[in-house]
Amino acid sequence: MDAKRKVSIIGTGSYVPEKVLTNQDLEHIVETSDEWIYSRTGMRERHIAADDQAASDLGAEAAKKALEDAGVTADQIDLIIVATLSPDMFFPSTACFVQEKIGAKNAFCFDLGAACSGFLYALDNAKNQIAAGAINTALVIGSEKMSTFVDWEDRGTCILFGDGAGAAVLQAGAEGRGLMNAVMGSDGSLADLLWTPGGGSRNPISHEMIDEKQHYLKMQGREVFKHAVKRMGDTVVQALEKNEISVDDVNCFIPHQANVRIIDAISRRLGVADRMYSNVEKYANTSSAALAIALDEAVKDGTISKGDLVVLTVFGGGFTWGANVLEWGK
Ligand code: ACO
Repeated sequence: MDAKRKVSIIGTGSYVPEKVLTNQDLEHIVETSDEWIYSRTGMRERHIAADDQAASDLGAEAAKKALEDAGVTADQIDLIIVATLSPDMFFPSTACFVQEKIGAKNAFCFDLGAACSGFLYALDNAKNQIAAGAINTALVIGSEKMSTFVDWEDRGTCILFGDGAGAAVLQAGAEGRGLMNAVMGSDGSLADLLWTPGGGSRNPISHEMIDEKQHYLKMQGREVFKHAVKRMGDTVVQALEKNEISVDDVNCFIPHQANVRIIDAISRRLGVADRMYSNVEKYANTSSAALAIALDEAVKDGTISKGDLVVLTVFGGGFTWGANVLEWGK
């Protein structure tokens, strides 16, 4: 569906909590080493939220920076979407808590669950609502406190994740093409390769469920790796075709920040290593926040400037995946 109105990102922001957990720190928590983690993932450190910080606190900090960057006041926001798999609680939505924290009293708010793909799904959802004329201004946030949902005794998963949030303000109007047409997909038949099986209506909270650690994230790392490389690579190609853009015309590729080896494999396949953005070394995998933080950093450090064509791509639990292209207009 072609957009009726052009839509652009007019401001970005991100926030990571103060506490840094290095690979060396992890050597004291599980049997691992800096060398093992860095060589297999490209990660050096990650940020960990304080006990009194929930996903909405991280998201609200990122949101305030994005609003300031956009020059938009909180009461101008019509819609807040928070992409998260680590919400403050099952309900109300984390987006409602963010609304209250930033004073966006005119917004309607909901959370979007697409695991690590959530920020891209949310961007496209907000874009389409603006394009259709239903709303004018949206705040899209990816926010995660992954540290509460990983098993700190499982070295296969706990080393991979970090906490943080990123945000973008979207508005009608764009000097260039703005946010273009996304390609997204899902495959629920592979859900059990990456999931948190306990704590919901399928396997409710009980002493037994907790004793079995079913409330923590479980992952078949090798399988996830293969699917992530294939899906992100394929979807980028599809998104470029859909928007009639050649890979050579793209200035910057920003993939989900899950593992530098996944990112390198996609770079090799597309032949774009010189234009691939990564900050996984500093933050590890912050799930739905990862793309949002990377986009903000790429804008702020000058990697992306006005008129650049940028490709975003994601992969996550579900499985879910997607890619989008945008022309940066600021
Ligand atoms: N430190 C030291 N050794 C470890 C660690 C660790 N932290 N974790 C596992 N090992 C050991 C294993 O026990 C195993 O030992 P064994 O051979 O004696 O049994 C050995 O290392 C190899 O384990 P593998 O799991 O096969 O290691 P692999 O090379 O596949 O790397 C990794 C694991 C890094 C998790 C990799 O599979 C990966 O990155 N997968 C993708 C994960 C990912 O990105 N998920 C998120 C994507 S979607 C989203 O963001 C939600």
